Amino acid sequence: MFGSIDLDRIDISQNPPKNEPERQYYYIAKCRKIIEEKSREKGRPLTACVNTFGCQMNARDSEKLIGILELMGYKITEDEKADFVIYNTCTVRENANLKVYGRLGYLSNIKKKNNDMLIALCGCMMQEPSAVEKIKKSYGFVDIIFGTHNIFKFAEIVHNRLKSDRLVIDLWENTDIIIEDLPVERKYSFKSGVNIMFGCDNFCSYCIVPYVRGRERSRKPRDIIDEIKRLAADGVVEVMLLGQNVNSYGKTLENPVSFAELLKEVEKIDGIKRIRFMTSHPKDLSDELIDVMKNSKKICKQLHLPVQSGSSRILKIMNRKYDKEHYLELVSKIREAVPDISLTTDIMVGFPGETEEDFLDTLDVVRKARYDSAYTFIYSRRTGTPAAAMEEQIPKAVVKERFDRLLREVQTIANEQIKRFEGETLKALVEEKNGQLEGFVTGKLDSGITVHFKGDEDLIGRIVNVKLLEAKGFYYIGEMMREKD
Ligand code: 5AD
Ligand code: SF4
Repeated sequence: MFGSIDLDRIDISQNPPKNEPERQYYYIAKCRKIIEEKSREKGRPLTACVNTFGCQMNARDSEKLIGILELMGYKITEDEKADFVIYNTCTVRENANLKVYGRLGYLSNIKKKNNDMLIALCGCMMQEPSAVEKIKKSYGFVDIIFGTHNIFKFAEIVHNRLKSDRLVIDLWENTDIIIEDLPVERKYSFKSGVNIMFGCDNFCSYCIVPYVRGRERSRKPRDIIDEIKRLAADGVVEVMLLGQNVNSYGKTLENPVSFAELLKEVEKIDGIKRIRFMTSHPKDLSDELIDVMKNSKKICKQLHLPVQSGSSRILKIMNRKYDKEHYLELVSKIREAVPDISLTTDIMVGFPGETEEDFLDTLDVVRKARYDSAYTFIYSRRTGTPAAAMEEQIPKAVVKERFDRLLREVQTIANEQIKRFEGETLKALVEEKNGQLEGFVTGKLDSGITVHFKGDEDLIGRIVNVKLLEAKGFYYIGEMMREKD
C-alpha cells in the first residue's frame, strides 16, 4: 500500500477509519495539515530528529518513525535543535537508561529556547513502569511517551498531542498484532533491515527483552518476501533479517515455516545479492539452517551466535538451554560446513554466582570458538528479571578484572583471526565515504569485516573486488581491483 497512497485523497473531515493501516494514513494526513500551517507561521519547514539507542531492531523502528514524520511534512535532521525530537530508547543494560536521562537534561535546555519544541520518548525503556514514573516526576517537559507494541500508532499519538497540548502517554502491556504496509524511510539506499519476527519467549534469566518486547510473533512469509522484492526493486542489494531469535522463526504461524525455508525463498529474489540475519540462539540453530548456509550463494558467511557464558553451570541458571559442550559442537559443525565462516558473539561477565572457574570456562570457549569479534558486556541487574533477585551478585572490582581479561583475550584472537584473509581479493559492498582518510571509501566484506580503500563516492552501494593489503586490528586497508557487480 505504501507508495500508492495519496494523502490528498483522504477525507479528513470524516471520522477516522477503524482498520489499520488506513487509520494511521488518515492521521498522517491530519498531522500534515497542522504541520503545514505551523510551518507557514514560522516561514520555514518544521524539523524532526530521531535519536536511536540500542539494537538493530530499534534502528529499524526508527526508520519507520522517520517514514511517518516525512509524510507528515517534517524535514528530517540529525541536529537535536529541532522542532520535534524523538528518543527511541533501549533498556537492555542500566547504562542505556542512564544515557537517556543524561541526554534529556541536555534536551531540556534546548526546549527552554524553543517553547514549541516537542519531545517524544518511545522504545523498550518506556515499557518499564518505573522509568515512566521517573520521567513523569523529574522530566516534566516530555510531551509524548509510547512503547514498543503500539509504535505503528505513531501518527495517531502525535495527532493527539498536537490537538491537546498535554502529555500524551500511550502504552500497551503486550500485543499479538503486526500491522503491515506502513511507511518507512531507509537510512541506506542499498541495504535494509527487515523484521521477520518480534518479541522473545526465551526468558533468559538476566534479560529484560521478553518483558519489554512481548511475546514472540512472526510475520507471514508472504509479507516478508513482498517487502524484500519491493526493496530489491528500489535498489537494495543487501538485507539483514531481524529478530531476537531468528532460529525460531515461523513456529507460531498458522502454517508453520522454518527459518531455513524462509531463507531459501529470500535467496530466490532477483537483485538481492547478500543476506544477513541476527540474532541466532544456539539452542534453536538447526542442521537444516547450517545446510542452507552451506549451499547458499547469497547468505553471508557470518554468524552471530551469542554464547553469554562458557560455564555449563551458569548457562543453566541463565536459562539458555544449551551447555558448553553443545555450543562448541555447534561451532565445529558450522566451521566444517562453512570453513571460512566469521563467527561473532555476545559474552557477559559477572552474572550472579559466577566463580573464577566459571569465568575460566568462558575464556576457554573464546579460545576454542575463535571469534572474529565479540560484544562483551558486564552483567547489569534488571529489575523484574529472575537474576535480579539472585543472591551472590558479584563485587564490582572482581567483575571489572574479569571483564578486562576477557577483552584482552577477545581482542588478541580477533587480531589473529582477521589476518587469515590478508592478501586475498574479496568482494566488498561499498557503504560510505571514509570520514578520516581523504579519497577513501569504506566497505563491508561478506564476513562483516570493514575494509577501507581508495575510491570515489559514486561506488557507494556497489559490490567491488578489493585486495586486502593489510589487516589492522579490526579492519583492513585494501585496494580496489576490478569493478564487478
Ligand atoms: N546485562 C548485561 N548484558 C545483557 N544482555 C542482555 N541482558 C543483559 C544484562 N542484563 C546482553 C546479552 C545479549 C545482548 C543483546 O545484550 O549478551 O545477547
Ligand atoms: Fe534476551 Fe535471551 Fe531473548 Fe536474547 S534470547 S532477547 S538474551 S531473553
